[in-house]
Amino acid sequence: MVTPHLSASLQHVLEAATLAPSVHNTQPWRFALRADGFDLLADESRRLTVLDPTGRLLHVSCGTALVHARVAARALGLSADVELLPEPGDPSLLARVTLSAGAAPDDDELALALAVLKRHTVRDAFAPEPLPEGLLHALGRAAEQEGAALRPLHDEGERVSLAVLLSGADWSEERDPAYRRELASWVRDAPAQDGISPEALPADVTRGSSLRQRDFALTHPERSGGEAPPAEEPAVVVLTTPRDGPRAWLEAGQALGSVLLHAAQHGVQAQPLAQVVDLPGPRAQLAKALGLTGTPQMVLRLGYATARAATGRRDVTDVLTS
Ligand SMILES: Cc1cc2nc3c(=O)[nH]c(=O)nc-3n(C[C@H](O)[C@H](O)[C@H](O)COP(=O)(O)O)c2cc1C
Repeated sequence: MVTPHLSASLQHVLEAATLAPSVHNTQPWRFALRADGFDLLADESRRLTVLDPTGRLLHVSCGTALVHARVAARALGLSADVELLPEPGDPSLLARVTLSAGAAPDDDELALALAVLKRHTVRDAFAPEPLPEGLLHALGRAAEQEGAALRPLHDEGERVSLAVLLSGADWSEERDPAYRRELASWVRDAPAQDGISPEALPADVTRGSSLRQRDFALTHPERSGGEAPPAEEPAVVVLTTPRDGPRAWLEAGQALGSVLLHAAQHGVQAQPLAQVVDLPGPRAQLAKALGLTGTPQMVLRLGYATARAATGRRDVTDVLTS
């Protein structure tokens, strides 16, 4: 539906923003129109108060929406000038985006904008094909352009360290009744405009990944000893930022969004394994175990998806504010 007071370009840019990934599909964003663009605001009512007491995940999620908007604007030949946290006295004003006429988009910019429609989260096992090494480098460059870094885990020892820390983090979260209640409140039993819909959950959470995924259904199945793990070779990467805090979280979100779009442009999708960076303890342990120079903001498995589950979004009209 086209909102009367929105120009077609702005409608398109904001639609792309709303298709961004967000923690538990909370979509914790609001947009206020301006004469020459829009403001991106945090929707505190959609922050996960248990999982996200500091607002880190909210900022990362809103950062992904920001990069979706920028990519869509470029495909329309618009230049998007972004100012992060423009009003020091108003931390809920996350970014001011000014749109103006820019250069005609090149083929890469157009392909990246199409990836907005191709990207999706994967929770089932990937296809067996490994990622081409060149693509991993390209994704690293995409992260760097947003002020972040992508650290691939090639070494078996590093992957074992990650697996151990991931299991521990997951276990700590799941034994907290408040975490379980909050998670359950975002899992839907029918397709919905937000939250995790039933189709987006793996048939068997233990078979959907070689690493421990967040178990949205809280079923606690044990990995069956007799079954071989899925034959897949995903890349495993950690996204880091040099600093931490609200600005770094927004930058991490823009880097995450950009990496996911560049991956999707080449047919590659991601499975986020965020539990290990949710809590300060495991986050610090991960940084130490991997000898990271920056702060870990997200862990991803990347590979070729075998299926796609649609997730819902709210309409642009529902996320506009005055
Ligand atoms: C900051 C952030 C953290 C996320 N953490 C997880 C996670 O731990 N496990 C998971 O399966 N998906 C995770 N996701 C993916 C979201 O659940 C997903 O983006 C959302 O449900 C919308 O689905 P879509 O990505 O298919 O559009 C995360 C996404 C973001 C942006």
